[in-house]
Amino acid sequence: MGTMMLCLSNMLDIDLRAQLAVLLAAADFADGAGTAGWHARLVKTNRQAVLRHPATRQAAALVSAALRDHPVFRAAVQPRRIAPPLFARYATGEAYGPHVDDALMGLADPAGPLRSDVAVTVFLAAPESYDGGDLIIEDSSGEQAFKLAAGDAIAYPATSLHRVAPVTAGERQVAVTWVQSLVRDAAKREILFDLDTARQHLFAKEGKSATFDLLAKSHANLLRRWAEP
Ligand code: NI
Repeated sequence: MGTMMLCLSNMLDIDLRAQLAVLLAAADFADGAGTAGWHARLVKTNRQAVLRHPATRQAAALVSAALRDHPVFRAAVQPRRIAPPLFARYATGEAYGPHVDDALMGLADPAGPLRSDVAVTVFLAAPESYDGGDLIIEDSSGEQAFKLAAGDAIAYPATSLHRVAPVTAGERQVAVTWVQSLVRDAAKREILFDLDTARQHLFAKEGKSATFDLLAKSHANLLRRWAEP
């Protein structure tokens, strides 16, 4: 409960991926250690697109918009704020050892710091184009490894320890970001998502029945109790 790892296929379609490739070809990539917390930095070797560059900013805006517009992502994550996505590349030999992401990000942001409730990785390279480089997430049942198709995304609780396995051939390319959710607690988000999914299935089956109305009422009232807008 509350450790839902959500895989979203085709978060970025082929046209968006082509636009991103053009933008990122114009971007500057630098040592990625600069954006990690002081302890995570010790185990991080990769390169990241420099966010100051206009091409990187445009690319980040495209990924943010895709996340925000995705109905399943919205229902499961309940985004309040999405941090500007970072674009990371891991060449052969690069990795990101076990770490937990910073709880608060952008401490200098005029809008106040973003609390990282949900972490997101969008895979940009085809899995057959590189070896290794799995995203490995710890949960109560052990470790789970993810290496998704280009354009697919995974959203997982930012509360977890996770790592990126060393790349042994080719180059791993991803966009990563963090979301402050309207619903801080992952177990509550999961309940809301389950109810929302059930209510949609019920509506498809029997329309706006009395049972549907009760389910919709419960979903709305739990959201009212738990959301922190
Ligand atoms: Ni991380």
